[in-house]
This record gives sequence, C-alpha cells and structure tokens, in this order.
Amino acid sequence: MSQSQSAPTVLFVCLGNICRSPTAEAVFRHKARASGINVTIDSAGTHGYHIGNPPDKRSQQAGVAKGYDFAGLACRKVAVDDFEKYDYILAMDNRNLEHLKKISDEKYHHKIHLFLSFAKSDYSEVPDPYYGGRRGFELVLDLIEQASEGLINRLRAQQ
Ligand code: 4NP
Repeated sequence: MSQSQSAPTVLFVCLGNICRSPTAEAVFRHKARASGINVTIDSAGTHGYHIGNPPDKRSQQAGVAKGYDFAGLACRKVAVDDFEKYDYILAMDNRNLEHLKKISDEKYHHKIHLFLSFAKSDYSEVPDPYYGGRRGFELVLDLIEQASEGLINRLRAQQ
C-alpha cells in the first residue's frame, strides 16, 4: 500500500478483461461497499482482444444471479502507469502474473500478487473459463468471492 492516507487502490488483471477480472471488480466493489471500506477499484487485461467490450454475457449471468452489478464495465488493456497508480495489482493466474512482471519495472513487483493468495482455497489460480461451460463461470465467481473476503479483511486491518 502507498504511504499516503488516501484510499488504497486495487487493480484486478486477467488475460482478456471480459471474464475473470471484471467479475472480480464487480464482486469486490459490492463487498467493499457493504463492509464500508474506502478503496479505488479497476480491472484490465494483459491482452487487448476485446478492448471497449462489456464483460462476457456468461460472466454477467453468473454474477447477476448472485446480486453483482456489471453496469458500465468495459474492457481495457493494462497500461504502463497502472504500476505506479495501483497499490495491489492482482493477477488471476500465473500466466497473467508473469506477464505483469515482464512488462513492469522491478521496483513495482512487490505490488503484483495472485489474487487467490488472499483466499483460503485449494486453488492458487482462478481458472480461465472462456472456452468452458457454465460451471466454470460459477467456480470463478466462488473463488473470487473467497479472495475478496480475504482482501477486505487485509484492507480493513490497515484502515
Ligand atoms: P478472461 O478470459 O481472461 O478471464 O477475460 C478470456 C477472455 C478472452 C479470451 C481468453 C480468456 N480470448 O482468447 O479471447
């Protein structure tokens, strides 16, 4: 976290920024609001296949069924100034994590973590659901809910 007293900043990152990271953004925003913590949240993709597009309909379906709001979310690619701006840069899987480290200066690497490092789970990565079925999207949501609770506890302890 930055040394200032301003709200912590969290960036969720996956490959396409249409399935996992926008789901994390929607879930974490909902839970952060409910728990009263002050935090700035965004999401981005390591690749720009879907820039400007809304989240995948299957992600929205799974999330809306559990009360999360995806309105206004649009795909963007990770930008160089994200590494300065965000305190927590949270990758959905090891491929995303390695990509983030590869494109950033080493002085930012302490900010880059696997999101599921905040979850108590047998999973260490949020599996890419893009080419699978509905169950994959539900698993993504479950894992993201668990990690969000863990991250909220961490931020709450710091506020
Ligand atoms: P995401 O899923 O990284 O969770 O957004 C994917 C979205 C798109 C593609 C792959 C994964 N794609 O190959 O287009």
